[in-house]
Amino acid sequence: MKALVYNGPGLKALEDRPKPTIQAPGDAIVRITRTTICGTDLHILKGDVATCAPGRILGHEGTGVIDSVGAGVTAFKAGDRVLISCISSCGKCENCRRGMYSHCATGGWILGNTIDGTQAEYVRTPHADTSLYPIPEGADEEALVMLSDILPTGFECGVLNGKVAPGSTVAIVGAGPIGLAALLTAKFYSPAEIIMVDLDENRLAVGKRFGATSVVNSADGGAAQRIMKLTGGRGVDTAIEAVGIPATFKLCEDIVAAGGTIANVGVHGAKVELHLERLWSHNMTITTRLVDTASIPMLLKTVQSSRLDATQLITHRFKFAEMLQAYDTFGRAAETKALKVIIEA
Ligand SMILES: NC(=O)c1ccc[n+]([C@@H]2O[C@H](COP(=O)([O-])OP(=O)(O)OC[C@H]3O[C@@H](n4cnc5c(N)ncnc54)[C@H](O)[C@@H]3O)[C@@H](O)[C@H]2O)c1
Ligand SMILES: [Zn+2]
Ligand SMILES: [Zn+2]
Repeated sequence: MKALVYNGPGLKALEDRPKPTIQAPGDAIVRITRTTICGTDLHILKGDVATCAPGRILGHEGTGVIDSVGAGVTAFKAGDRVLISCISSCGKCENCRRGMYSHCATGGWILGNTIDGTQAEYVRTPHADTSLYPIPEGADEEALVMLSDILPTGFECGVLNGKVAPGSTVAIVGAGPIGLAALLTAKFYSPAEIIMVDLDENRLAVGKRFGATSVVNSADGGAAQRIMKLTGGRGVDTAIEAVGIPATFKLCEDIVAAGGTIANVGVHGAKVELHLERLWSHNMTITTRLVDTASIPMLLKTVQSSRLDATQLITHRFKFAEMLQAYDTFGRAAETKALKVIIEA
């Protein structure tokens, strides 16, 4: 089968690999019908993710059809259409029993990281019963690919952890797919203001189209001042950090209101300063989270009932053989205006 392989920092190739086989009774082999590329895959290709070794097939998002199942799988059979969670979870360990699937003792974010992933014709999915979701009859598969990672991430790590509430004021720093997913799902709670911050005018325009009440381009260094002005000097109740660099976390520290929350979503590769000399008296909260994808069933219902239009996040479509082209387009998002790219079998 063809697969997109990480061959060390800066190196990737579409290679021929053997079709995966069942290794444990809970495994399923899924024939991929649609997958996509995540900002995290680009982090891996830069060499930022130490757990991902060269030779790994990338990808942790997608939909497919069950090809075969191990003896222990009871919820799925060959031929079933499934959505693949970016988080594999046994459902039985202490962390899974708390709903913290991201820290499953034998799972978590392993697909396309410590085991081969979904950017291939077939993938082996461990703990299939509790890591796959049946695709409802008539569902738009493209839309569901947005549920593997980005919508649960924006919602769980940004909106839920950030305690977005009716009438509240929210700033989302970073208008990439994750920041935009946070924007779309923040609207469930009817905040009064959603301020979108980015350096990229195209992404800010998308934010506006998706329902941001204001947008702020932070290129000139004056973002904090403008956001304080927009909020009457008060700051925001929720500051969602969806970039993953020190400057954007600092911006969140500068704009969070007394009693507010900084919900960090970004994957940080460098040390960040915490300004407790100013924030100690601020009655504020800082949260961090690796997505659990516990919200997939709920989000699936909002997509199915047209409460959430997930296809808005898709800008480009490719065939599987065009995988390298898909990476090139996604990697040059500022020029190509790419958000999520769909790669079809
Ligand atoms: N916590 C989790 O479980 C989890 C899951 C998935 C992704 N992530 C992380 O979330 C982050 C966002 O993901 P994405 O796919 O949307 O990434 P992305 O790179 O597509 O988007 C980041 C956005 O930030 C903007 N940006 C960069 N520097 C900025 C600055 N100084 N000020 C304002 N905006 C700036 C960029 O223009 C871009 O639009 C990444 O760090 C990713 O690794 C976390
Ligand atoms: Zn991802
Ligand atoms: Zn577990």
